[in-house]
Amino acid sequence: MLNKKSKYKEVWKTAEKAFGKFTTDQLVGVNKEEFRAYVESRINEITPETEGYSEAEMERQRDLSIKFHWGHDHDFGDFKLAGKMRKRHFRLMANFCTYFPIELSDFKNKDVFDIGCWTGGTTLLLTALGSRVLATEEVNKYADMTSYLIKSFGLDQKAKVLRASLYECNSEDFYDKFDIVYFPGVLYHLTDPVIALRHLYNACKIGGTILVESFGIDSDEPICRFDGSLVYGTGDKESLTRSGWNWFIPSASTLERMLREAGFEEIESLFFKESSRIYAYAKKATWNGICRAGLSQPDIK
Ligand SMILES: C[S@@+](CC[C@H](N)C(=O)[O-])C[C@H]1O[C@@H](n2cnc3c(N)ncnc32)[C@H](O)[C@@H]1O
Repeated sequence: MLNKKSKYKEVWKTAEKAFGKFTTDQLVGVNKEEFRAYVESRINEITPETEGYSEAEMERQRDLSIKFHWGHDHDFGDFKLAGKMRKRHFRLMANFCTYFPIELSDFKNKDVFDIGCWTGGTTLLLTALGSRVLATEEVNKYADMTSYLIKSFGLDQKAKVLRASLYECNSEDFYDKFDIVYFPGVLYHLTDPVIALRHLYNACKIGGTILVESFGIDSDEPICRFDGSLVYGTGDKESLTRSGWNWFIPSASTLERMLREAGFEEIESLFFKESSRIYAYAKKATWNGICRAGLSQPDIK
């Protein structure tokens, strides 16, 4: 059996190789120049009308929702785009498959719900691993870019993107549909993480798995830090590159408790101190009810 370091490297390498096929040589129904021109024309674009906020609300929106920033690194062969999250799509997969009971082969022929897809790096990777993917993204311009990539690489039968918040993924169309819910990098952007996790629990098939990754705090206590939309990290206002807009930032034990409240079982978590990120794995082993006291959405399934 491989040790953890070798396993991590092996998964990363395999994921990177699988993703490597998305070069302009593989485009379907669009020529290379047209493709490149379209993709590059969207970067740095500011189009409030696409997002649907009023002029008066602009000041309160997050920089990443106002201005188009590319998500994950992508080498298209004849041009490259550097993503704000660099090679995170490979790192996430390598960590999930190294530290939890899931393998890259478990993504093959599975229905996967990709939450918060940004510019589609993870969505494409999942299709390359053999998954059928439904991605959802609340920022319209990123949902549109992911749809464009899917169409341009001829993946219409394998992936679809919704221009929607995960809070809208709450109907019969979503219940018991997914083998894997892929949920990295979003939980701390949510005002109501427990309700969000319940939606994702409802979306899982019985026996399905959720893979969560989140910004986290270093504490053994079940506590959260509250930042809200007025606390920023790196970047600056002029270039609209600030990070932040984080609501509740949990400790690992808080995330475990939230997953349990949502109905999940067989929960495992891991906190990476150097990056302040939590990884978690859980199963919808059976159907469990939810405590209805104080729910912000009392009619949730
Ligand atoms: C930090 S990025 C993570 C991207 C990718 N999932 C990853 O982990 O590499 C967060 C993404 O989730 C999206 N997002 C935030 N809240 C969301 C929500 N309620 N529903 C759908 N997408 C959301 C953001 O617009 C952004 O594209």
